[in-house]
Amino acid sequence: MIKFVCNDYNEMSSLASEIIAGQIVGKPDTVLGLATGGTPIGTYMELIKKRLDFSKIAIFNIGEYYPISNSNTQSNRFQLFDSFINKINAKRENVHTLNGEAADPNSECENFDKKISHMGGLDMVVLGIGLNGHIGFNEPAERLILSCHLGDLTARTIEEHAKFFDADETVPHKSMTMGMGTIFAANRIVLLANGANKADAVSQKFSGVITTTCPATLLNLHHDVTIIMDKAAASKI
Ligand code: GLP
Repeated sequence: MIKFVCNDYNEMSSLASEIIAGQIVGKPDTVLGLATGGTPIGTYMELIKKRLDFSKIAIFNIGEYYPISNSNTQSNRFQLFDSFINKINAKRENVHTLNGEAADPNSECENFDKKISHMGGLDMVVLGIGLNGHIGFNEPAERLILSCHLGDLTARTIEEHAKFFDADETVPHKSMTMGMGTIFAANRIVLLANGANKADAVSQKFSGVITTTCPATLLNLHHDVTIIMDKAAASKI
């Protein structure tokens, strides 16, 4: 594992964008798994500025609330397009998101995995980390699921995400997420964390223990993980 502690969010975003850009330039048909959430937005902004060629890149968004309308500005699909895809030259047919409106979420998940397998798996996945150590929407649990699946959000995540939704909206209680197996099969994993509120989750990641009750700790088993944090997130390591 390679670990970088940056001075602040901007430095973290800039460094992460350099690493992702290196991957894209080195392999113009890279298959990328991308997180949404606040953490990677600065990284995506830096990548946009680089004017790289994304025309052969395939992108898989790693999660989605369920159910949620595709036009809801809080859907992961909307956020990924708004913060990144709409500003690069990726081909729309190469961008794959989970449909929060799917009538059959289980077959939606199954098809998502098939598409990833068809591409030969992910070359790189870019992750954030939840306050409780979740990655994607793989929440702390006794058992974690390898494949893409529909799952329950924990009360903590629902509470954490409530601030993103209007007061009269119901925060989705479920999500579809890329599974741990698919994330782990990626050649390279880049984990981003910023802010003091992530310090506890990050310190668990570095505690020398692996546990499904903090899914991020399992990243210690992967052969190529780069973790990029700001000082605040790294303050309890
Ligand atoms: C969400 C997403 C994750 C994201 C995490 C942290 O639940 N499913 O992909 O990494 O929360 O979000 P943020 O970066 O906004 O702190």
